[in-house]
Amino acid sequence: MRDVFVDFMAEKHDKPQRPPLWRLFDFPVPETHIMSGSALFETFTRAPLAFDHGEGTWLVTDKGERYLDFGGGVAVNSLGHSHPHLVSALTEQAAKLWHVSNLYEIPGQSRLGERLADATFADKVFFTNSGAEALECAIKTARRYHFVKGHPERFRIITFEGAFHGRTLATIAAGGQYKYLEGFGPKVEGFDQVGFDDIDAAEKAITSETAAILIEPVQGEGGIRPVPTQSLKRLRQLCEQHDLLLVFDEVQCGIGRTGKLFAHEWAGVTPDIMAVAKGIGGGFPVGACLATDEAAVGMTAGVHGTTFGGNPLAMAVGNAVLDVVLEDGFLEDVQRKALLLKQGLAGVADEFPDVIEDIRGTGLMLGLKCAAPNTKVNMALRDQHLLAVPAGDNVLRLLPPLTVTDAEIHEALDRIRAGARGLSDAIAAAAAK
Ligand SMILES: Cc1ncc(COP(=O)(O)O)c(C=O)c1O
Repeated sequence: MRDVFVDFMAEKHDKPQRPPLWRLFDFPVPETHIMSGSALFETFTRAPLAFDHGEGTWLVTDKGERYLDFGGGVAVNSLGHSHPHLVSALTEQAAKLWHVSNLYEIPGQSRLGERLADATFADKVFFTNSGAEALECAIKTARRYHFVKGHPERFRIITFEGAFHGRTLATIAAGGQYKYLEGFGPKVEGFDQVGFDDIDAAEKAITSETAAILIEPVQGEGGIRPVPTQSLKRLRQLCEQHDLLLVFDEVQCGIGRTGKLFAHEWAGVTPDIMAVAKGIGGGFPVGACLATDEAAVGMTAGVHGTTFGGNPLAMAVGNAVLDVVLEDGFLEDVQRKALLLKQGLAGVADEFPDVIEDIRGTGLMLGLKCAAPNTKVNMALRDQHLLAVPAGDNVLRLLPPLTVTDAEIHEALDRIRAGARGLSDAIAAAAAK
């Protein structure tokens, strides 16, 4: 039996060695960051900040302090906070109808489905409440395709090191990360992982049981790692050769984040199935699984379902997000602002190489590859009232709203420079001791 239990030992060897410089940062995490003492599960290490309201790219605490939000709720607040068009779409719908279930027609759902299909490779859409559910639907769609084609034995899916596809049992198995699998019993069967961007290994991993290849065109939580265009093209070819389905996870990199509606458009490669979430709801929980008619052939009446997915509130907001993102010139402006931010960040990295090694990513999905521990860089930026999000590979993610202004980008660069300078001085002082 392959792959049923997590290979704990093998995974442990992957743990990165800490460079000597990092010993400077070895001080204990304050108690308050470990146990909140509240009635909530202790699953999150929360910053000691509570926000009262948001205005565009800004978040305001209960004490009235203003923070520049370059974390964007982890790529969710695509149009910032309290965007007037989203607020009116949600409140108008809230006054009319919240929920009816998928036992009835939901006009907003048909409309959003058609708009997504018109704008992409897809013919069919299934709405969910989250990214992980969109991935679950994508995985089930791929497996059912082979099942109805008479090949129930083809259920395995090839994934890539550093991937993150969610926290359900199947999506942690797809992600393959030990830290998310540990303690949750046998790993869901059917995922074969190869190295990041190792397309030769992906080819070798294809067997008569393989159903699909699943990949994030730009890895988010794995450390803002874009997959090269050539690699996506090769994966498309492999899928053609072996009758596999190509599944893209654009939960984080989709909905304008890279300056195109979907990141794969840069490569000119289309998937058969795609999972979307985060930015499409702009903060309201919405996800979607998109597929071609052919790939969705197995998803017939009764084989899959959801209580809340695609409800009228979510659809009102999803349609409103598309109204803005699909406006003429909106995505071109995202590309222009992204360049401004990336060039500015490159300047900061040049100034403080002991803090920031490199700038990664594309569009408004950028990563500071840190020389100091990313958690410390994050704290230094937070001290400057700038919010960012740590990721794997010692990267700090910058995921501002797509509506961020030039002035806010300049303000953020000033704050990042100030944070980096403070950390650089602290490193120098500690090294001199
Ligand atoms: C690429 C990717 N896929 C899937 C997910 C899971 O989405 P959710 O947390 O909405 O279930 C995430 C969340 O960060 C993600 O970044």
